[in-house]
Amino acid sequence: MAQGRFITLEGGEGVGKSTQARALAAALRARGHDVVETREPGGSPGAEAIRALLLEGERERWTAGAEALLFAAARADHVARTIRPALEGGAWVVCDRFLDSSFAYQGGPDAIPHEALMALHDVGSGGLLPDCTLLLALPEEEALARAGARDRDGGDRFGARDPAYHAAVAGAFHAIAQADPARVRLVDASGTVEAVTARLLSAIEP
Ligand code: TMP
Repeated sequence: MAQGRFITLEGGEGVGKSTQARALAAALRARGHDVVETREPGGSPGAEAIRALLLEGERERWTAGAEALLFAAARADHVARTIRPALEGGAWVVCDRFLDSSFAYQGGPDAIPHEALMALHDVGSGGLLPDCTLLLALPEEEALARAGARDRDGGDRFGARDPAYHAAVAGAFHAIAQADPARVRLVDASGTVEAVTARLLSAIEP
């Protein structure tokens, strides 16, 4: 059977990734593909257990280094138990966040070197990279307003960080897109849900 395709959606808080992951998966299913929708941190029972450790509790619960290791450990389980089996079975995998989130969050404001994050990814996940990464981007004020509206009932340990932290994440995402234009496509996340989904579909066309 043909090998599937691995597509990841990335971006800061409030850009609409989760909504778009669902919409993109539905559009690909309508085109006849077998699609597995998944997310990080999480996507397998072990990785979902690690997700709770990462997102719940006190802001100072973990050091930056421990966080980088936990994200890499969750990813290793997710790749081994969900992503690789789906790709080997010929499915298209649509994943809400993946390795680039570690480059942007742990590599951006937390300043863990890129090579160290890649080494963890090699150990945990055999260095698996997406075929295509869709980076959703909004002007900073609009993203913060959207994330603020969503998190008013209590955000997670990351959403609750200050605007300078999120600006550093956004800067790191843009640097990733510039460094790897063959894999990472920058997509304008403003406008209606339908308009953004149409942009995503044309971005993966090649
Ligand atoms: P979510 O809000 O998309 O569910 O993601 C949870 C948080 O985890 C989000 O603030 C980004 C953060 N995160 C990292 O810091 N590094 C990672 O590798 C991943 C996957 C997520």
